[in-house]
Amino acid sequence: MARKKIALIGAGNIGGTLAHLIGLKELGDVVMFDVFPGVAAGKALDIMQSGPVDGFDSAMAGTGDYAAIKDADVIIVTAGFPRMPGMSRDDLLTKNAGVMGQVAEGIKTYAPNAFVICITNPLDVMVWALQQKSGLPANKVVGMAGVLDSSRFRLFLAQEFNVSVEDVTAFVLGGHGDTMVPLTRYSTVAGIPVPDLVKMGWTTQEKIDAIVARTANGGGEIVKLLEKGSAFYAPAASAIAMAEAYLKDKKRVLPCAVMLNGEYGLRDFYVGVPVVIGGSGVEKIIEVQFLPEEKKAFDASCDAVKKLIEDFKKLGV
Ligand code: APR
Repeated sequence: MARKKIALIGAGNIGGTLAHLIGLKELGDVVMFDVFPGVAAGKALDIMQSGPVDGFDSAMAGTGDYAAIKDADVIIVTAGFPRMPGMSRDDLLTKNAGVMGQVAEGIKTYAPNAFVICITNPLDVMVWALQQKSGLPANKVVGMAGVLDSSRFRLFLAQEFNVSVEDVTAFVLGGHGDTMVPLTRYSTVAGIPVPDLVKMGWTTQEKIDAIVARTANGGGEIVKLLEKGSAFYAPAASAIAMAEAYLKDKKRVLPCAVMLNGEYGLRDFYVGVPVVIGGSGVEKIIEVQFLPEEKKAFDASCDAVKKLIEDFKKLGV
């Protein structure tokens, strides 16, 4: 049986980290595409040269030719520009809008059967544009945001409770922006919901509120520290979890940006909700029951995404 083929569109900070993780986890062979093909080829060669040390055989190549992504099983898109200090993800709209058209065309032409994971920001509108322009089925085009936001939330909760991150589950829904919705009621330590832990005296509501705010600003905190560019280790790890769920038909329950088709009473745009990812792509969209204030926050987040889609349409790209 041939190895799986994974194409990475964008060979920047996230692209390089993705390739390295794919090698270390032996998920398949890698083709990295970039408008700077030398960067893609150089990173591919460098990572492949770590294979003998780490014991992986993944073949890696870099290219500036879309034909090289032919018949890829999985495609992860990071092409575009990252944030700089002072910028919101939404500020990237004009810069990255044009990029998605080119990427969609390449995917449609050479790998229409791939499972596509978009990371480029502003995420919810970029993944929507990618699906619309490529014409791939919506269950095969997803956005990576919720896994990352939930991972940040899990880390901060684990630090607060002084327990292993492995025993913390967390839930972040909505758009991947300032309006994202971390749901404490569905976040637990070994199955005990966070509000119960507050009642048990493990922490205070004020501390949980601060963690929720830090989670929502998780990307911005890193942009400020890095001064040039945005987070890449955790975003790459999050996308790899999604790719692995597809390639291994794991049927993992992960928060992802997906096209809603009547779920939550909404349709025709992408937003973060819990889904089952398996060998068919998005196999199920899970509709959680919201409390009134949670519903309000989710609706506000959806409205922000819808507005950005309207802004995108006005660009006419
Ligand atoms: N086609 C292919 N690659 C492109 C294109 C394009 N049209 N335009 C830019 N690129 C490449 C750049 O040359 C660069 O190598 O995309 C890569 C982006 O890498 P970085 O600048 O290092 O950005 P990164 O940190 O990887 O983030 C990429 O993901 O999380 C989001 O907000 C982030 O939108 C940003 C994206």
